Amino acid sequence: MVCFLSIATTLRAWEGNVLISTPNTSIILSATEGQQLRFSYFGERIEENQIHQVFDSWAGFHRPAYPVFGTSTYEISALHAVHADGNQTLDLVVDKVEQNPVKDAILTVITMKDRVYPFTVKMYYKAYQQIDMIETWVEVSHNEKKAVVLKRFDSGHFLIRRADVWISSLHGHWGAETQLESEPLVGIRNGLGDHSEVMFSLDGKPQENSGRVIGAALCWSGRTKIRVDMDDTFGRSVHSIFAGMNEEASEYKLEPEEVFTTPVLALTYSQEGIGGASRNFHRWARAGMVHGCDKPRDILLNSWEGVYLNIKEPEMDQMMNDIASMGGELFVMDDGWFGRKYRRINDNSSLGDWVVDTEKLPNGIQGLTDTAKKYGIKFGIWIEPEFTNTKSELIDNHPDWVLRAGSRELSCGRGGTQVALDLCNPKVQDFVFHVVDTLLANYPDIAYIKWDANGELLNYGSSYLPKDKQSHIYIDYHRGLVRVMERIRAKYPDVVIQACGSGGGLVSYGVMPYFDEFWVSDNTDALQRLFIQWGTSYFYPSIAMAQHVSASPNHQTGRVVPLKFRFDVAITGRLGMEIQPKNMTDEEKDFSKKAIATYKSIRPVIQYGDLYRLISPYDRKGVTSMMYATEDKSRAVFFVYKMEQFVNQLLPRIRMAGLDPKKNYKIRELNVAPGANPCFLNDRVFSGALLMNTGIELQLEREYASWVLELTEI
Ligand code: GLA
Repeated sequence: MVCFLSIATTLRAWEGNVLISTPNTSIILSATEGQQLRFSYFGERIEENQIHQVFDSWAGFHRPAYPVFGTSTYEISALHAVHADGNQTLDLVVDKVEQNPVKDAILTVITMKDRVYPFTVKMYYKAYQQIDMIETWVEVSHNEKKAVVLKRFDSGHFLIRRADVWISSLHGHWGAETQLESEPLVGIRNGLGDHSEVMFSLDGKPQENSGRVIGAALCWSGRTKIRVDMDDTFGRSVHSIFAGMNEEASEYKLEPEEVFTTPVLALTYSQEGIGGASRNFHRWARAGMVHGCDKPRDILLNSWEGVYLNIKEPEMDQMMNDIASMGGELFVMDDGWFGRKYRRINDNSSLGDWVVDTEKLPNGIQGLTDTAKKYGIKFGIWIEPEFTNTKSELIDNHPDWVLRAGSRELSCGRGGTQVALDLCNPKVQDFVFHVVDTLLANYPDIAYIKWDANGELLNYGSSYLPKDKQSHIYIDYHRGLVRVMERIRAKYPDVVIQACGSGGGLVSYGVMPYFDEFWVSDNTDALQRLFIQWGTSYFYPSIAMAQHVSASPNHQTGRVVPLKFRFDVAITGRLGMEIQPKNMTDEEKDFSKKAIATYKSIRPVIQYGDLYRLISPYDRKGVTSMMYATEDKSRAVFFVYKMEQFVNQLLPRIRMAGLDPKKNYKIRELNVAPGANPCFLNDRVFSGALLMNTGIELQLEREYASWVLELTEI
């Protein structure tokens, strides 16, 4: 076996194994010219001279790397194409392998050609050299006389040895997003719920800080499908994992010379448990998969739960004044500010008519940005540019700009009138771009956009796409969205943009390269947020997670929770407030002011530190706990929350993680409840070894009590 590790352009007459490595992980593909590409290994990093050990020990899978439908495999396939002459089969063999350095990574491109048809598939593997992440995707093209129909088109495929493998995935609905499910992986799984990210624990029940884990994230904001097949043939049993755009109702007619590029499937491997895989995702996210992570995120007040649609200039002024005096840095005016012919009084009209309602805001947006300046804070604004209402000037003027199924009556979402624009249509893409461009060009002081998306693509039909390409809707819609975002980012790289659609569970790495953050959930109840944020943190970094302190009783659950607990839950991500400060007492404002100042002092640790989850809320141990530590392990912030209270309750002793065992850390309790004394650990010094091996006792004797402990190396 020959191994080409050295970086070379085009290796012809190629035979051997392709080693694709990150600092701690490797994939081996067996690629011999004229033969099927094989997936042989994914795991701990190996060196070139150790490749033979993988095969000698029978650890090599040597199975098709990208199974195609028709001839070469009896398994389920990753690619199914119908040729121009009606033939439904593919038979791909390796033509060439290229490995080249690109920014921060080494890119391996394996070109495969069909033995009979002029049909090409290029497989890409981008291996980061500083982060344990390998992105894979596929390009399909052909030179046949007429279009080829793609019926299935996965981004990638990999294998896991069958054993006590567990799968962790996120399901969710509005208000209860990113609910974590972990279960033994058996049999075939189709469609893993709402989220296109999963983790596989290879050594039994998932552990936070130990055990081998493979994490996979499909970077596509449209419909996705992750399938797990089980194969016991050849005496060596494997799980075969396929991930790609969901092919249902999405047959794709590929014209000659057109290139069909699948979304990226990002793969990570860690020996440090689920937590290690999460930290890999977080690093990769901050390195570019989430926009703008080089800048720390501002503390904001968002107007929604404070005034809902009832936007009025005096209230906006008052809210800006209040958040500025509490030390906040940004005010965001939410829904309700727009509409001319149809005013946005409730949620059944006006989306698309992005002109100021001057009855509500006589001095317009300029008046508001001036006010923000006066108070020394930034200004942000809400829009929902992919949607309109049947009651809007936009739809009056452009009835053909919405997705609709021919002459059928429109199915409507929110407010009984909300429908999606047809982003397959370049004119509609222009319109959406201009919504943002006009706002930002006219009001350069707008520093932040909350980009909402409160709906689904309910009506399957595009008046732009030709009859024989109606089945491209789900794919072309999301390509259209990405095109718009690319234009926006080319012109406005510094505006912070929130993808709000995750209130509803829609966050996706398919769009996060253009968005700085996302709204974790419309549910701002601190207790339930502990669960939602826990699941979200499996794949997404704290810097991007918008977490707001809201009123008590909470508007979604009615739960009454102390302000301290609400802050302590929100400050583990990008802190904000979602409240009418006018209704807060002076004591509450005072506490908020101090908590905001505290957050500023720990912001770098929270937004850029490594996350260590310690006790899961799903384990129902009465408490949940997590911490962040800086990469050099000189600072950390530890959190623990009491979720329920019983007399003589057994609470765990919590062992910290992510510290340096040899360092000594001084503990300081932050956000001490008004009138309370700091906890018994305050001001004491402990070794990292003690904190991690022996752990700390808790003294939390009330429901919704919490501790935030800062650890500083001395
Ligand atoms: C969605 C968002 C909220 C708010 C409303 C406005 O529900 O998630 O935060 O912006 O829309 O209509």
